[in-house]
Amino acid sequence: MALTLSTQFAGSGLPSEKEAAQVAAQASAAHLSLEEGTGKGAGMRGWLRFPSQYQHAEEYGRILAAAEEIRTNAEVLLVIGIGGSYLGARAVLEALAGQYYNETRKGTPAIYFTGNTLSEGDFAELDRLIAGRDFYINVISKSGKTLECAVAFRHFKTLLEEKFSGQPDEVNRRIYATTDAHKGTLLENAKRNHWKTFVVPTDMGGRYSVLSAVGLLPIACAGISVGELLQGAAAAQAAYAKPAAAFGKNACQDYAALRFYYYKYKHKSMEIFASYEPGMSMFGEWFKQLFGESEGKRGRGLFPASVTFTTDLHSLGQYIQQGRRLFFETVVTFTEQNNGLCVNEEPGDGDGLNYLAGKTLHEINRCAFRATALAHSKGNCPNLVLELERRDAFHIGWLIYFFEKACAISGYLISVNPFDQDGVESYKKFMFALLGKQGPDHDKVRAALRKNYNLEI
Ligand code: PA5
Repeated sequence: MALTLSTQFAGSGLPSEKEAAQVAAQASAAHLSLEEGTGKGAGMRGWLRFPSQYQHAEEYGRILAAAEEIRTNAEVLLVIGIGGSYLGARAVLEALAGQYYNETRKGTPAIYFTGNTLSEGDFAELDRLIAGRDFYINVISKSGKTLECAVAFRHFKTLLEEKFSGQPDEVNRRIYATTDAHKGTLLENAKRNHWKTFVVPTDMGGRYSVLSAVGLLPIACAGISVGELLQGAAAAQAAYAKPAAAFGKNACQDYAALRFYYYKYKHKSMEIFASYEPGMSMFGEWFKQLFGESEGKRGRGLFPASVTFTTDLHSLGQYIQQGRRLFFETVVTFTEQNNGLCVNEEPGDGDGLNYLAGKTLHEINRCAFRATALAHSKGNCPNLVLELERRDAFHIGWLIYFFEKACAISGYLISVNPFDQDGVESYKKFMFALLGKQGPDHDKVRAALRKNYNLEI
């Protein structure tokens, strides 16, 4: 198995035999309803069987061809999107190419992510970064109307138009749009301007879409093997396909059952995603969106947080060890080392580190992980450990599928629809009213804001 779920560091936080039988049965029923499509939001399970099918799809070939074209011709690729249309690609890129990917990957375009903020400082910085460079755009939005993404797209498309003034074909061949197959402003614009298009599948929400064109095009542009990524996910799809009546047969279902156990029976309100690799920090961001948007509704759900150790042992480590006992940790580790870097021996041992001489940094990091897991579990913060052999495309693909499926089962366990996100709309209605968007609904909100908050709008 590419992934092992270990409870070695769960401390006293494991279910009794009776509790284990109970939560396993609940998780199995939730899993079955996911597989059979009898649960809430069943129409949005396109991601469930996608990895095993997609490599045979016509679009997959077009993605590889588009990536080749971008890699050959572009100095910079701007990926414009937010939330599920952004986090997965960046998470995979950093997990596999590292956080300095733009500096370390030679001969491939620099990749910058934008459209995920309204910060003018961020836009201006990016303007300076791409000035004088030949840049391409991959704009990604399922709805085609998300404000952050649309504003950034207009801004950077205008830069392209200024750069290639009077040459619309040069502009249009540098734009790739990933959006809904049938509707939306972005799709209409793409058709009008002959931009190449890729599809966000109708039956897949943004946060479950990283293994579709949404994530695969930018990931392929970074020179990462999307074939291996999909193979890893497809292998996980096969490994976790069957609901199991008891613990020990399906790690994905077991993980969902254990996090449900902490939530329901141990009254934990938070789950902390932890890793010991800075390159996995963005994966933690993707994890937070996946679980936060899927579970956080109807006053329910674990609040997802993330840390990168050992860095955060010197900030949040204190709280995790001794603060309010709100959480458990889900730790992702990799057993194999990549580089074999060692601590060197120093004559005189002035800094007292010679006891580490000859040890690899990987071994030292593994010791830090074990020590932390021991300390945290002793401090009543159970550690669930997901151990993968290697940090490569296959294993990251596997891990993505593992979390997606565990997340959907978890949603059903707490009786929410893991595939909708109505709550995200609430701030938008105020924002559009404040921004002066036209229409009777916006007028109504503006009137209420004037009356109740004395706002001059
Ligand atoms: O997971 C989701 O569905 C959301 O996070 C969306 O991906 C995000 O809001 C962006 O939406 P869109 O792709 O429509 O611009």
